[in-house]
Amino acid sequence: MMNMNIAAVAKAYTEKFSATYQLFFSPGRINLIGEHIDYNDGFVMPAAIKQGIYYAVAKNDTDEIHFFSTDFNESFSTNIHDIKKADGWKNYVLSVVNEFLLLKKNIKGFNCVFGGDIPNGSGMSSSAAVEGGIAMALNEIFCCELNRVELALLCQRAEHNFPNVNCGIMDQFANMMGKQDHVILLDCKSLDYQYFPLIITGYKIVLINTKVHHTLASGEYNVRRQRCEEGLAILKKNLDIQSFRDIVSSDNLETYKDQMSDEVFNCCKYVVEEISRTKKAAVYLQENNITAFGKLLFETHDGLSKLYKVSCTELDFLVDLARNNNSVIGARLMGGGFGGCTINLVKEDSVDLFIAETLSAYQNQFNIPGEAYVTETSDGTYQIAD
Ligand code: GLA
Repeated sequence: MMNMNIAAVAKAYTEKFSATYQLFFSPGRINLIGEHIDYNDGFVMPAAIKQGIYYAVAKNDTDEIHFFSTDFNESFSTNIHDIKKADGWKNYVLSVVNEFLLLKKNIKGFNCVFGGDIPNGSGMSSSAAVEGGIAMALNEIFCCELNRVELALLCQRAEHNFPNVNCGIMDQFANMMGKQDHVILLDCKSLDYQYFPLIITGYKIVLINTKVHHTLASGEYNVRRQRCEEGLAILKKNLDIQSFRDIVSSDNLETYKDQMSDEVFNCCKYVVEEISRTKKAAVYLQENNITAFGKLLFETHDGLSKLYKVSCTELDFLVDLARNNNSVIGARLMGGGFGGCTINLVKEDSVDLFIAETLSAYQNQFNIPGEAYVTETSDGTYQIAD
């Protein structure tokens, strides 16, 4: 049976344009560990997931571009020679088109319908999914011959440009390079990567969505990035280092504490600790030591909440609940923060109970119906065969 989201996108395309199009799937992502360190030359451990965005796209032999978003029930049209910043979802797709033009790729008019099942602001990176889907579609229909890593980098530049979020490479890389049943251990400095089979026998990865999103996240996100840049510049003056990963222990930072603000110091401390945690986590995962791996997730959350300050009451509440639940061996906020999801490692036979208890406690506390998803991994963005 055809997936409901593909069916909705295909139907809308046929109604608005014609019956001839190509279909693509562009996944969201989870990240096991390594948060807010992709733009700090750290290591991250994401995977592409089954939730994502579906695209129906075809050339239209004009210079006009027509978009329709099934999720927002909104259309937008423009001319290929008049691509400029807009607002909301339009910025994400237009910025990708703009990047192809900047590379002098021979892009012409096209029609595009897209929509899916990644909740906005959930920390599962709907933005990279939106970018990756249109990038892959343009690459295919206009034969641009960019490889997957080039497409990921193009999408990252697109997010920096019109949406003005100075994100790292993690989301776009996972979106293009994901592999079903695997996580990616990505070195964000060199872009070297390894696939690990996601073997967590006896456990499931469960996301709990707070359904809140507190701040103009892009503003706060860019502020965190600036703090890290400021801190690194100070450390470089004192130490013979290129990046945070050259600092072996956060103890070495204390000496330079009085040269920076508390906010900057705390961000640096978090980054150094998270880089080291992620390296340890990779070893634990390979050794199948899920208990030790899970403990690191709680430590990451503490760092994100107390040092990096990207958590919020709702996320802290969910992680505290998880900490006090014997069937959970690790939990933390996932993605940029300020709302969105927690990621939880939950004993397989207790998943249903964990979800029921957690959503009920969350509803009682905040009067918000949260949502839960049991994760399944996926391949990176791909064309769906006819
Ligand atoms: C967002 C960004 C990523 C990454 C995460 C935090 O998802 O797009 O590049 O920085 O936040 O780890």
